[in-house]
Amino acid sequence: MERNKTFRAIHAALLICCAGFAPTVLAEASAQMLANNCVGCHGPDGNSLGPASPSIAGELKVNFVDKMKSYKTKGGRYSTIMGRIAKGFNDKEIDLMAEHFSSIKRTNLHQEVDKKMVARGAKIHDKTCKKCHSEPEEDDIILNGQIKPYLLNTMHDFSQLDADSIRSKDVKKMVKKLKELSMADRKAIADYYASQK
Ligand code: HEC
Ligand code: HEC
Repeated sequence: MERNKTFRAIHAALLICCAGFAPTVLAEASAQMLANNCVGCHGPDGNSLGPASPSIAGELKVNFVDKMKSYKTKGGRYSTIMGRIAKGFNDKEIDLMAEHFSSIKRTNLHQEVDKKMVARGAKIHDKTCKKCHSEPEEDDIILNGQIKPYLLNTMHDFSQLDADSIRSKDVKKMVKKLKELSMADRKAIADYYASQK
């Protein structure tokens, strides 16, 4: 009897103190557990230590979710490895990971860049890419601080696509622009983004 009372008192106290708290803690823990599947390649906090995997910290949640879902889709986003990895996670889990990584700040790795190339890349960015890659408030994909080899690889991959086969108007436009750029232009752009915070 006595024991029961104490138990009830503790139970009540727990309910009062932790009712709003416990679920958040649990959600956090499982987001971290999920994220542990990613950090080997994307860096301990989603800021990649390079060279093959991109940084995924600080990415807008909506873009993160879009990319993960597109990796899972047949004929979706091109990938070497993420297609297979993304298939292992359901929508709820993708959402939790997106929440987790988007809340972490993107930090710049201090990559080696060439000043002249940065200036050349800045011009190309202003003229050709800025419209779609500079406003996080408008769901833009932000390339600043991204890993250089990844930037070069994705620009290459996109430039190889057949523009007519692309459904998204924006991506179609971009692919056409990327096809017009020389290798040196692309290197300059990669240096420019890598130099940005
Ligand atoms: C074995 C290494 C590896 C692991 C593990 C891994 N990734 Fe990736 N990730 C990559 C590579 C490489 C790319 C570039 C696309 C590709 O070629 O697959 C990428 C791309 C991405 C992108 C797109 C980034 C961008 O800006 O376009 C997201 C988002 C992402 N990964 C999320 C995750 C999440 C979430 C996990 C954990 C569940 C994870 N990755 C685990 C290697 C990895
Ligand atoms: C009309 C809009 C538009 C323009 C202009 C544009 N892009 Fe993009 N870009 C996009 C969209 C949308 C995506 C996402 C594509 C996807 O996830 O399949 C993207 C993705 C990328 C990526 C892949 C990075 C990542 O993390 O997903 C790179 C690199 C890139 N763009 C570089 C450029 C460069 C360099 C230019 C200028 C020469 C440019 N883009 C111009 C819309 C645009």
